[in-house]
Order: sequence, then C-alpha cells, then structure tokens
Amino acid sequence: MKKQSVPLAEAYRLLEPGPVLLLTTADPRGGRPNVMTLSWHMMMEFEPPLVGVLVSGRDDSFAWLEANGECVLNIPTADLAPQVVACGNSHGRRRDKFRLTGLTPSPASRVGAPFIDECYASLECVVHDRGWVARYNLFVLEVVAAWAEPRKRPRTLHHRGWGEFAVAGSVLRLPSAMK
Ligand SMILES: Cc1cc2nc3c(=O)[nH]c(=O)nc-3n(C[C@H](O)[C@H](O)[C@H](O)COP(=O)(O)O)c2cc1C
Repeated sequence: MKKQSVPLAEAYRLLEPGPVLLLTTADPRGGRPNVMTLSWHMMMEFEPPLVGVLVSGRDDSFAWLEANGECVLNIPTADLAPQVVACGNSHGRRRDKFRLTGLTPSPASRVGAPFIDECYASLECVVHDRGWVARYNLFVLEVVAAWAEPRKRPRTLHHRGWGEFAVAGSVLRLPSAMK
C-alpha cells in the first residue's frame, strides 16, 4: 500500500513506546504524594538499569522529581485505563489523584515515592543524571529496586496519541542472540 505523508508533529504516534507508566513522587514538604501518567520513556542501560523519562516542566511532578531526586515507575494494565487517563489530565497540587481515581499508594522499600498497589509492576528509581533536564526535560533514572507480580501476559497500555491506546499482551518467542 502507498504511504501517505504524516504531519511531523504526529510522527511520535508511529513510534509506539513501551508501556504507559504511572510515575509517583513524594511531596518534598511532607504532604500527600502525587501520580502522573507518562509514556515518553526509554531503556538506556541493562546494569545498572537506566531509564530516560521526559517530564514536562509544566507538570507538578517535575518540581517534585527535581526536589527529591526519586520516584517510582508503576506499570498499569489495561483494566486501569480510566485511572491512567485521569492521572494524565489533572494536576497534583490541585487534586488528590489517589482520592480522585481510587488508586492505592503504599510505601516503597528504597525511595519516598509510593507504589501503586493496583499496578502489576513497580520500579523504584533515583535520579542518576540531570545533564539533559535543562535542555530536554529528560531525567536519566537508575532503577534501584524492581517488583512485579508473576503474571504471564500482562495486558499493558501503549499510547498512540489523542486518547488512543494499543493493548499488548500476546507473546512471540524467537531465537535471540541478545538479552
Ligand atoms: C497517555 C498519556 C501519556 C502522557 N505522557 C506524558 C509524558 O511522557 N511526559 C509528560 O510530561 N506528560 C505526559 N502526560 C501528561 C501528564 O500526565 C499530565 O500533564 C499530568 O496532568 C501531570 O500531572 P502533575 O501536574 O500532577 O505532575 C501524559 C498524559 C497521558 C494521558
């Protein structure tokens, strides 16, 4: 089939990223924790595991990640889609998003930001490199502890822009020379 021109501002919609995440942060002043939806992330290293996340300077989470230098990347499954969208369309300083969505925060082991109990996996992270923050809002995180339910085929959400998500879940297993 012949390809059609895609507006440059929509190129990102073709590069389906990894699963949509719920990034939690603790309030540096000791108030309630916050949670934002995040789909712009990338793996950068195996060991220690490094993950790049792009957090807009307009998000309340940006200031809290800057201040605390730590967060949790929680991985929701498709059944949490309404909560995922709600966390991406409200700001933590104005709304208690845990109360808004019914999601349950619980203490993590290594960082002050909370786990979300309903998510099937949670990665505790500390900021490893701030060198790209001023230019790209890109925080390089180091995963310091990782937790996951032993589900065989989690149905994760993958953002395709404008409220559209792909749902992953089926698995192909092929010979591989790398991890
Ligand atoms: C599906 C989805 C994906 C999103 N991905 C990102 C992202 O990668 N980076 C970002 O800065 N904001 C992203 N957002 C927007 C933030 O989640 C949104 O601005 C949120 O209100 C920020 O919350 P906060 O101000 O409490 O931190 C996304 C929103 C949705 C719905």
